[in-house]
Amino acid sequence: MRRRPAISPGTGSCMPADWPRHLGLMALALCLGGLAACSSETPAESKPPVYVSSCEPCHGNGGGGAPVTGDKEEWAIRLAKGREAVYMLAIAGFEAPIDDEGRTTVMPAKGARNDLSDDEIKSLVDYMIEQSQ
Ligand code: HEC
Repeated sequence: MRRRPAISPGTGSCMPADWPRHLGLMALALCLGGLAACSSETPAESKPPVYVSSCEPCHGNGGGGAPVTGDKEEWAIRLAKGREAVYMLAIAGFEAPIDDEGRTTVMPAKGARNDLSDDEIKSLVDYMIEQSQ
C-alpha cells in the first residue's frame, strides 16, 4: 500500500499559512514517505505473520529436511504430484525416512497449528509455492 500524506492543495483546509516556505520540507517528507512505502513492499516484509511464526522456523532454512521456501527445484519436485496432494500432506502431516539410521523428517500436521483451517493452510502453502517459482 502506498501511503500519502493528506495534502490537498485545492481545499486549503489542512495547509499551513506559510505553505511556500514549507514546500521543501514537504517534498522531503514525501520522499521519505515514498521510501518507507517502497521498503514495506519488499517480499521480506510482506510475509504472512502466521507463516513467519509457524512455518518459517523449519521452511526458512530447511531444518529437519523441510523444503526451503524459495528453493525452486525442491518445490518443483514436490509439485509434480499435483498441488492438491501437496496441500493434503501439509494438512495431514507426514514423515519420511531421511537416512539409513532410521531417522525421519517430520512435517507436523498443519505445521502443528491445529487451530488453523484447511483453507488457511492451503493459502500458506500457496504463499510458499509462489515464493518458490
Ligand atoms: C517442525 C518443522 C516444520 C514446521 C513447523 C512446518 N513444516 Fe512443513 N515440512 C517439514 C518437513 C521436514 C517437510 C518435509 C518432509 C519430507 O519431505 O520428508 C515439510 C514439508 C512441507 C510441505 C511439502 C509437502 C510435499 O508435498 O512434499 C508443505 C506444503 C509444508 N511442509 C507446509 C507447511 C506449512 C504451511 C507450515 C506452517 C503452517 C509448515 N509446513 C510448518 C517441517 C515443518
